[in-house]
Order: sequence, then C-alpha cells, then structure tokens
Amino acid sequence: REKKRKQGVNLLELAARFFRERMKMAEGQAARGYLERRGLSPQVVEEYGIGFAPNDWEALKRHLGEQGISEAVQVEYGLLIHREDSGRTYDRFRDRVMFPIRDVKGNTIAFGGRVLGDAKPKYLNSPETPVFHKGRELYGLYEARQAHRQLERVLIVEGYMDVVALAQFGIRNAVATLGTSTSEDHLTRLFRMVDEVVFCFDGDRAGRQAATRALETVLPLMIDGRQARFLFLPEGEDPDTLVRSEGTEAFQDRVTCASPLSEFLFDQAAAGRDLARIEERERYASQVLKALARLPEGVLKSLLLSELAKRTGVEQARFESLLAVPDPVAA
Ligand code: GTP
Ligand code: MN
Ligand code: MN
Ligand code: MN
Ligand code: MN
Repeated sequence: REKKRKQGVNLLELAARFFRERMKMAEGQAARGYLERRGLSPQVVEEYGIGFAPNDWEALKRHLGEQGISEAVQVEYGLLIHREDSGRTYDRFRDRVMFPIRDVKGNTIAFGGRVLGDAKPKYLNSPETPVFHKGRELYGLYEARQAHRQLERVLIVEGYMDVVALAQFGIRNAVATLGTSTSEDHLTRLFRMVDEVVFCFDGDRAGRQAATRALETVLPLMIDGRQARFLFLPEGEDPDTLVRSEGTEAFQDRVTCASPLSEFLFDQAAAGRDLARIEERERYASQVLKALARLPEGVLKSLLLSELAKRTGVEQARFESLLAVPDPVAA
C-alpha cells in the first residue's frame, strides 16, 4: 500500500509540475493575467504551486504517456476520464487554473481547477482516489504550517481563492474545506495542531448556514480550553474580496473581534425572537439546551448553563435535570 501511495504521489507531482510549466509558457498567458487581475503575485502563485491545465483534450495524457505512465493509473488518480460508451480517455482538467491540494507533508494528492471565465462548473475537483478523500483534506494546511514555526490558530474559509488571497496579504493561516462542509474529522485534525479555530465563511446565506452547521460539529470537540470563534462578513463579501478591499490590518481586526462560540450560540438562539414573550423564551432555552447537550461535560458547559439560567430567569438546577434526561428537547 505504501508503494502504491508513492506511485500515486509521484504521478500527481509530475502533473503538478506539468501544470506549473504550462502556466509559464505562451498558452498560460490568459491564466497568468487572470491571477494577476485577482491580485496574486508570482511569489504566492509559486508558493501554492498554482498552474494551468491547457485547453487540450490530451495534453496531460500525452505528457504522462511519454514518461511511461499507463492510462489506467492516470484514470485511477483522477487525471484522466475514461468514457465507458466510447472507450475513449481524455484529460479531466482543461483550460483551468490548477490548485494543487497537498497533504501535511507537502505531497500533491489532488487538484482543484477553476475556469478563467464564468463557465460551469466554476471549480472542478479531483474525484476520490486512493490518496484523496475529499471530506478529510484541508486546502492550504501544508502551506500554513510551512509559514509558521508554531501555528496558534487557523482560519477556516470556504474557497481556494480565499486561502491564497489571504496569504497574498500576509495572513498565512487560512485553510479551506474542498466544497464540503466542515467535518468532525477536519476539526479533530486541526485541534491536534492548534487550540483555536476561527470560522470565516462567505457573507451570504450559504455561508451563514455553514456557520450554523460548523457550530453543531464543533460542540462535541470543545474540551481542554479549545476555542472556536465565528467571523461574519458583510453581505456579499468573502475573505478574498474583503481583504483586497480593506487590507490586512482591517481584516485582522475582524478576526480579533470574531464572536466566541458562547456568544454565537446565544445570539443564534435569540435571532428573530421576542424574548419578552414566554413562549419565545421557551424556544430560546430549548435551542440553547439542545446545543449544550452536545457539549462534553466541563467548565464551559457549566458556565453556559448558568448563563442560560441568568438569561431566562429559570433556575439552573431545572436545566441541569432537563439535560440529564436523554434527549430532553426532542421529548
Ligand atoms: P471565486 O469565484 O474563485 O472567488 O470562488 P469562491 O471560492 O469565492 O467560490 P464560492 O464562494 O462560490 O465557493 C466556495 C468553494 O466551494 C469553492 O472554493 C470551491 O471549493 C467550492 N465550489 C464552488 N463552486 C463549485 C463548483 O461549481 N463545483 C465544485 N465541485 N465546487 C465548487
Ligand atoms: Mn505564528
Ligand atoms: Mn459563497
Ligand atoms: Mn466565495
Ligand atoms: Mn470568492
């Protein structure tokens, strides 16, 4: 299995090198221009190993074929698509800016490719392969660790471009999930390296929903003084657009002011409710309790319970006994 992984990683590194070289050639001019218009310097492009897949059905296939790599292996690692009906094979990534996705050791394990214009799909990722499991990997984690002797916190953003744009502005601790929601697996891995994560999703409905899901996912992991905070961006902005319009310092200030988990939890439960009304206060308490039921036993849970008691005027002991019953809220 180790040998197999090595073979895959070698192949993907050859592909990454091919994409980088193509970007530097004449056919990469449009891609270079695109990245420049998006504010990226050649240094950051280099650091992230960003390349270009030419507008050709077989460019990579020919290149890898010349190095004696079989089509079957290229298909297995997601570089080549095999059509069952015609039996033909062709390059998966064509006419796209290519972001290599690296594992923690820096090996390229997959790619994300963006169209230069507004064709669909905007992003195309490698499929699941023996070395790539989309729900586990975080784009930019390798680069973030390279940039810091000791990473203290990580920003979790939505997109490749967010990670790279933040790096361009000197904020080198952002990672992105690959179009999936943040999983427990992602967070467990991050908390092995840092004590604090800051969720920073797009300022749109999808981003706010992602934050709500992230809260649920992170609750069971809140032990040992770990911190989770939530940064909400102005409507229509994402980290890329915002850091480019506001600059590094203003963005860092937003990170510093991001809501702690406790604040987001209470704010979210209160949103849209008139807490002067008893029934709404009851729903508010239920929603907070439901979240608390997911928290591990500990000081944070006790503090949040006493805060809930204070905010609703109900005795803390009542809430404690409700929490002690299995699934108190669903009942
Ligand atoms: P830019 O337009 O390049 O700034 O992209 P973005 O990162 O702002 O895109 P968006 O906020 O729409 O989406 C966030 C992330 O979701 C992207 O970085 C991708 O990882 C993923 N994503 C977006 N569109 C697609 C798509 O069409 N297909 C797939 N597979 N993933 C997508
Ligand atoms: Mn540091
Ligand atoms: Mn979005
Ligand atoms: Mn976005
Ligand atoms: Mn964007």
